Amino acid sequence: MKKITIAIDGFSSCGKSTMAKDLAREVGYVYVDTGAMYRAVTLYALENNMFLPDGGIDADALRRKMGDIGISFRLNEATGRPDTYLNGERVEDKIRSMEVSDHVSPVAALPFVRSAMVALQQAMGRDKGVVMDGRDIGTTVFPDAELKIYVTASAEVRAQRRFDELKSKGMDADFDDILRNVKERDYIDSHRDVSPLRKADDAIELDNSHMTIAEQKQWLLERFHEAC
Ligand code: C5P
Repeated sequence: MKKITIAIDGFSSCGKSTMAKDLAREVGYVYVDTGAMYRAVTLYALENNMFLPDGGIDADALRRKMGDIGISFRLNEATGRPDTYLNGERVEDKIRSMEVSDHVSPVAALPFVRSAMVALQQAMGRDKGVVMDGRDIGTTVFPDAELKIYVTASAEVRAQRRFDELKSKGMDADFDDILRNVKERDYIDSHRDVSPLRKADDAIELDNSHMTIAEQKQWLLERFHEAC
């Protein structure tokens, strides 16, 4: 069977990664979580004190260090899913913290960060057979992807999912904080100058607010078989 490229875009915490990971495992494709890449750059900036007292990012300092930021993924044998590594260190849990969530959108809006990540993502998907999730995969990274999905769900439903996910990992979580963060990121992600989040004209829209994970999985598998 020919291999295709699958782009899954949408707002934060809409369940894209769960759908994308499940599909990749089911059909034997590579899964790439592009949000994790922007999160890893943000973690690097936090750990190297590149945020100013007013919360803004020192863009010049980050630009100078972009060449030192190595991001990679390695399969976690226990979960069967890829973990994110920053300069050789496994950072899968650190990049999901509220601190990173609170700082990631302004970092992801910087044009030099985006061009570096997009180049890496295009290299990772060069041979097709990839499921990539993010905000601009169907519009910028792989505008020729054979299957594009645009996922939406209400902000409250998404905040609840993120809350449940953090709790299940034993991490600290406050629902109101998460809801505020989800809405703030929605706004920044869809209003930035470079590659704002928007539905590609040829993407299929899915509102999964009232769907179970199993239903989403089945729906996506059907779209996959139609596209192949
Ligand atoms: O998908 P996730 O919520 O982990 O992404 C974290 C952040 O990374 C998003 O809020 C967005 O600012 C940024 N992002 C992006 N482009 C992508 C993926 C994520 O700007 N392709």
